[in-house]
Amino acid sequence: GDPRLEAISAAIRVVPNFPKKGIMFQDITTLLLDHKAFKHTIDIFVDRYKDMQISVVAGVEARGFMFGPSIALAIGAKFVPLRKPGKLPGKVISESYELEYGHDRLEMHVDAVEPRERVIIIDDLVATGGTLSAAISLMESQGAEVVECACVIGLPEVKGQHKLKGKPLYVLVEPSGLDGFC
Ligand code: PRP
Ligand code: MG
Repeated sequence: GDPRLEAISAAIRVVPNFPKKGIMFQDITTLLLDHKAFKHTIDIFVDRYKDMQISVVAGVEARGFMFGPSIALAIGAKFVPLRKPGKLPGKVISESYELEYGHDRLEMHVDAVEPRERVIIIDDLVATGGTLSAAISLMESQGAEVVECACVIGLPEVKGQHKLKGKPLYVLVEPSGLDGFC
């Protein structure tokens, strides 16, 4: 395999029982501290998307903000933040999504994308796929075309893939041998 993926995997700190018992938390802050591994992460995404006529990189608050802007700058796209509720001052559209207990919402400025723009949605991790699904809905409600969802971490057969409205999911590394992860 690609030795860069091993470096990325090794730089992610796994914290058992955070934020609650039974969850193996995938901590990407240690990846951000490791210049080489962080650079590999951005480079792999940039190589994949640079020639795909992508004009929008959308990042999901908060951890999607740590990867999206670097990719957007490198491929010549704009960066669109998809934010938690009540943070954006302009006219927004909102999309709810399910959490284990209750629900949350993502918002986007309606003037952030034009119809038919080609979009990549970036986040650090996909678990159930609920977050990415809401992000896809926001983009599609404005007529933008979601080309792919991309995450640093995910399960290969992530249940969430069914939720992604048929959109491809690209994942760099998989947490090994874990049931619950977050
Ligand atoms: C985490 C993670 C993803 C999402 C994945 O974000 O960063 O965005 O959960 O879960 P899902 O596939 O089941 O939807 P979280 O909402 O915990 O907050 P943060 O990014 O603001 O830290
Ligand atoms: Mg998140």
